Amino acid sequence: MSASPPTVVVVGASRGLGLGLASEYAARGARVIGTVRRQQPPGALHTLAASAQGRVVVETLDTTSAKQIAALASRLAGETIDILFVNAGISLGHADTLPAASDATFLEVMRINALAPLRVIEALADRVPAGGVIAAMSSLMASVAGNQSGGMEVYRASKAALNMLLKSFAARRGQGRAVLAVSPGWVRTDMGGPEAPLDVATSVRGIVDVLATWRGRSGVAFVDYRGKDMAW
Ligand SMILES: NC(=O)c1ccc[n+]([C@@H]2O[C@H](COP(=O)([O-])OP(=O)(O)OC[C@H]3O[C@@H](n4cnc5c(N)ncnc54)[C@H](OP(=O)(O)O)[C@@H]3O)[C@@H](O)[C@H]2O)c1
Repeated sequence: MSASPPTVVVVGASRGLGLGLASEYAARGARVIGTVRRQQPPGALHTLAASAQGRVVVETLDTTSAKQIAALASRLAGETIDILFVNAGISLGHADTLPAASDATFLEVMRINALAPLRVIEALADRVPAGGVIAAMSSLMASVAGNQSGGMEVYRASKAALNMLLKSFAARRGQGRAVLAVSPGWVRTDMGGPEAPLDVATSVRGIVDVLATWRGRSGVAFVDYRGKDMAW
């Protein structure tokens, strides 16, 4: 990390990988602005903030709310964000095939996993200078080339759409910044479940290391938590 501590925004930092990213960045001395959907009752991010000597700030954001996105953007109007990481997402679990999903469910997963992250990125991107990093939590499941088995179909479609929207954003508004779709591996969280091989600490340590290598660079990439290029 550079001499002056970077400011990192983690969207969706209440638990799981987002909380892990906020903790890892705080441990490395960054200034962290983490978002949660609800301030009450106070949760794990509030506990982290209480022990971080003012370096962790808890903001409110439901990524599907245009009003809340605009309010957050205006609260952060004076900030320079070195790393913007949109982590928030949902899955339908393993019993996820297209025929099993209602239209409403399909649209909700698309909205939360693909549309909402880009709404947030479009709204906050002006706060990220050239040399900064704009990232969203993608997935192994986003890879069209890598899909040999089907299953997790709505989730796959939503993360592939996320990747496509990130590429469009990078082409249209990259402006000297790195735009990254990040696969965290299969991780033991509420979403990943107890059988996942990776713990949160291993995944987020890797992700933070990988993002550090992208500071000061421009371009767009789909990478995993070890920095390995993923097939789009
Ligand atoms: N775990 C894995 O193996 C794995 C693998 C590949 C990709 N991912 C991706 O990694 C990200 C984090 O997953 P996780 O495993 O940490 O899942 P998780 O434990 O279920 O946490 C999901 C996080 O997203 C937040 N969130 C969901 N919808 C939101 C919304 N509309 N607005 C704001 N926040 C919202 C949740 O907030 P609340 O606490 O308020 O619900 C929570 O902080 C997701 O994008 C997921 O798709 C996970």
